[in-house]
Amino acid sequence: MSQTQSLIFPNKLEGKRIVLMRPEPISMDLAAEIYAEVDASRDFLRPWLPWVDSTHSAEDELVHYLYDYVSKKWKEGVAFPYLIRHKETQQLLGSVDIMHVDMEHKSGEIGYWLSQKATGFGYMTEAVSVLESKAFELGLNRIVIRNDTRNLPSVGVAKRSGYRLEGVLRQDTWLPDQHKWRDTNLWSKLKSEWSQAHSKD
Ligand SMILES: CC(C)(COP(=O)(O)OP(=O)(O)OC[C@H]1O[C@@H](n2cnc3c(N)ncnc32)[C@H](O)[C@@H]1OP(=O)(O)O)[C@@H](O)C(=O)NCCC(=O)NCCS
Repeated sequence: MSQTQSLIFPNKLEGKRIVLMRPEPISMDLAAEIYAEVDASRDFLRPWLPWVDSTHSAEDELVHYLYDYVSKKWKEGVAFPYLIRHKETQQLLGSVDIMHVDMEHKSGEIGYWLSQKATGFGYMTEAVSVLESKAFELGLNRIVIRNDTRNLPSVGVAKRSGYRLEGVLRQDTWLPDQHKWRDTNLWSKLKSEWSQAHSKD
């Protein structure tokens, strides 16, 4: 395998209570299912996810999310977005991605959201664990999580998942709607740290 060959992530990853599914086959039904969750959690997601207010319909999910992002990025091998479903009920809980995958430096970034009613059960902590394990097994050396310093639930996910805070990127993002700057936490985990934690299992 050459140093820069793309990773091949599986279409399905299993945790104890959840499964991570590649969002396919792409269909209007799938787009409508995702849109329903985003729409029901719109006020909850809005402060932290810039795409929420540009998502107005199932057609937007189909075109802008499933075709322009999911399908394209999987093919390019630079981002692998998964839907999170409950293992028993198949209920859609949210999404988790490994993105900005850089095979030269063997690094990537995990991003995520849950529908509001799926929070408080540890599903995202489980999803991060499942996805990072596959990413490290496939050859990544470093995974980062970024979050707004005010986003305490997301900070909780990074901490519970054992990520180390490298620092705060001061005023790295301008929020036009709020007319203010945002500070971003940068968290990371290295393969050596993941291997060490898993050797104790
Ligand atoms: C960020 C986000 C995914 C965190 O959701 P969450 O439910 O708090 O995170 P988890 O699924 O890991 O659940 C952890 C919570 O469940 C509780 N929990 C219950 N059972 C648990 C278990 N088996 N394992 C771990 N935690 C468990 C934890 O105590 C914690 O609750 P607490 O914060 O009240 O202590 C969610 O708030 C969200 O989608 N926010 C909007 C979008 C967003 O901010 N995305 C990130 C942008 S950087």
